[in-house]
Amino acid sequence: MDLNKRPDDMARITTPELAQAFIEEQVAACREQIGDKKALLALSGGVDSSVVAALLIKAIGKQLICVHVNHGLMRKGESEQVVDVFRNQLDANLVYVDATDRFLSLLDGVAEPEAKRKIIGAEFIRVFEEEARKVGDEVSFLAQGTIYPDILESDGVKAHHNVGGLPDDLQFELCEPVRLLYKDEVRVIGRELGLPENMVERQPFPGPGLGVRCLGAITRDRLEALREADAILREEFAAAGLEGKVWQYFVSVPDFRVTGVKEGKRLYEWPAFIRAVNTVDAMTAEVPELDWALLKKIGDRIASEVNGICRVLYDLTPKPCGTIEFE
Ligand code: XMP
Repeated sequence: MDLNKRPDDMARITTPELAQAFIEEQVAACREQIGDKKALLALSGGVDSSVVAALLIKAIGKQLICVHVNHGLMRKGESEQVVDVFRNQLDANLVYVDATDRFLSLLDGVAEPEAKRKIIGAEFIRVFEEEARKVGDEVSFLAQGTIYPDILESDGVKAHHNVGGLPDDLQFELCEPVRLLYKDEVRVIGRELGLPENMVERQPFPGPGLGVRCLGAITRDRLEALREADAILREEFAAAGLEGKVWQYFVSVPDFRVTGVKEGKRLYEWPAFIRAVNTVDAMTAEVPELDWALLKKIGDRIASEVNGICRVLYDLTPKPCGTIEFE
C-alpha cells in the first residue's frame, strides 16, 4: 500500500465528528510510531505546522519539541501568538529563537529578491539545525506539516522550504500525520483541536515573510512601517468579516519615497501598496472587488497612523500579468 496515496474511498473531513475520528486515529498512530522517543517540529505558526503540533502534543505531550524561529520578518503579533498558544495554553515544549538580528544583518544592503530569499532560506536552516543539534542525540523523528497538495505537486518528495536542507548527519524518521489531507480538512481538524480561529483561518504567508514585502534592501524603519500597515489591513479585513474569504491580502512597501502633506507640512514618505487576491492554486489570481468604504478606511488609517507612510495604493493587477508578491 502506498502510504502517500489518498485512498479513493477516504471521506472528505468536513464535520467535527469526522475530524474527531481522524484525530483519535492519528493520535494512536503517532503514539505507536514515536513510542517513548522524541520528535522535533519547525513551528512557523502557519496552519499546517500548527495543526501537526497540536495533534502531536495530544499524542506525545512534551516528547514533541517545537522550534519557532522568529526571523524578524514575521507579521505583527505572530511570534507572540505562537508562544502564547503553544507554550502558555497547550503547555508545549517550545523553543523560541529570536534570530532577528542575525537575519537583518545578513540582509543588510541586499536588494535582489532571489538573493534575499536565498539568504533567508539558508539562515533559517542554519538556525533550526543549531537548535536540532542542541537536543540532537535524543531526537529520532522530524514532524512536518506536509499536506496532500505538497505530495501531489512534488511527486512524493516535499521540497519544504523550511527544513528541506537539513544536513545528512542529522538523521530523522519523518512523521507527517496530515499528509493525506487537503487544506480545508486541516482547518477543520485545527478547529477541533482548539486552535484559535485566526490561526486556523490564517492566509498563506511566504517563508521569507515580510522580507519579500519590504521591497529592495530591507531597513528596520521601513520594515516596522510595513508591519504596522499590514496589521491595520488585517485588522480591517477581519472586522469586515473577510478573514478566510479573501485568499491572500497584504501590504508591500517600496524603497522610494513620494511627496505628501501632513499637518500642513510637506514631507517625503513611503507609499504603501495594498494587494488582495483570490485564487485556487496561486498559479493564476483575480483581484476581488472590495467595498470602496473599506478600502478608503484602510487607506486613511495607514496613511495617518503609520509613521513614514503618506500614501496608499490598491493594486488592480491579476496574475498574470502580475505575480501575487511584488518580489
Ligand atoms: P507569486 O508571487 O509567485 O506567489 O505569484 C504565489 C504564492 O506563493 C507565495 N510565495 C512564496 N511562498 N516562499 C514561500 O513559501 C517564497 O519564497 C514565496 N514567494 C511567493 C506567495 O505569497 C503566493 O501565495
